[in-house]
Amino acid sequence: MVITTSEIHPFPQPRMHYVAQQQTGTTEPMDFAAVRALIAADMDAVDVLIHHRLRSDVILINQLGNYIVNSGGKRLRPQLVLLASRAYGYDGPHHLALAAIIEFIHTATLLHDDVVDASELRRGQKTANAIWGNEAAVLVGDFLYSRAFEMMVEVNSMRVMEILAHATNTIAAGEVLQLLNCHDADTTEQRYLDVIRSKTAKLFEAATQVGAVICNRPAAEERALASYGLHLGTAFQLIDDVLDYGSTSAETGKNVGDDLAEGKPTLPLIYAMRTGTPAQAALIRRAIENGGRDDIDKVIQAIESTGALAYTARSAQEEARKAAAALAVIPDSPYQEALHALAEFSVKRSF
Ligand code: IPE
Ligand code: IPE
Ligand code: MG
Ligand code: MG
Repeated sequence: MVITTSEIHPFPQPRMHYVAQQQTGTTEPMDFAAVRALIAADMDAVDVLIHHRLRSDVILINQLGNYIVNSGGKRLRPQLVLLASRAYGYDGPHHLALAAIIEFIHTATLLHDDVVDASELRRGQKTANAIWGNEAAVLVGDFLYSRAFEMMVEVNSMRVMEILAHATNTIAAGEVLQLLNCHDADTTEQRYLDVIRSKTAKLFEAATQVGAVICNRPAAEERALASYGLHLGTAFQLIDDVLDYGSTSAETGKNVGDDLAEGKPTLPLIYAMRTGTPAQAALIRRAIENGGRDDIDKVIQAIESTGALAYTARSAQEEARKAAAALAVIPDSPYQEALHALAEFSVKRSF
């Protein structure tokens, strides 16, 4: 069965099928808003910390930093830290700092990513590089990375530092690997998966893993939480790459078609080349090699007729299923259900 883009897009409003029974006593599905509500007090505290630790004597850091931090990101990764640690009943002080640290690292990667990708729209507004220029965006990104590392030292756990240092380094390596794949139409699905696991899924993995670490959970549980995060993050990026062809800027807050413009061989293109007619394969090969948006309509036609977005979405669903399966080791609680809900959200999301 071939599912066309029009069948899977626009995605329905994110709805989760998991049930917040313990929380509500009903069979209402827990949606993204309900997940947020569950940890609202913690998230408020994380936001205060983020604003507090963003401050600097250098005015441009405050301006650009506040601009990006207040621009309405989903704050998904800090939510993962909070949910993972709360799922084990954490009542110490470190989950808030770690949530802020992870969001700083994420924000730094976005600042750098938008420079590298020459992107002009993020979170529905101009990117920092579009307003302040590439130099400022890169340097404030460096400020955020290094502030995150200062805060990590304060947490004073060698294991946490090990995980976060390794994750940050892996993200950087993933972005470099992606750079090498750019304009390379021979990029395989496996090489693409290596990139997205590194550049995106690794931080999700670190977020949930440190949640288990600060609760002193045994190694098997730490591994399960890490596995949940890695699969969730992989699903999340697969859908990001679907949305770049199958959505609108109004929904994603980013310019759709940016991936093609950069000659980025994401899974929709790889699959369409592999399964399309020789003419379609040649068209996509040329588009990857040359970059730009000239052939975007024809490329989208090829993507639609081969079912490439549906294939990518199915890969994401399989990753989300693995993420959910990894949660079996966690005791039942609203927090565990919220983690299930985020696995659903990662594939149903439209933003
Ligand atoms: C964007 O991540 C970068 C990717 C890994 C695709 P998010 O979609 O989580 O970004 P914000 O923080 O919500 O804007
Ligand atoms: C995600 O890659 C960026 C990082 C994880 C660093 P993309 O380039 O696909 O992300 P968007 O689409 O710009 O958010
Ligand atoms: Mg980008
Ligand atoms: Mg993208």
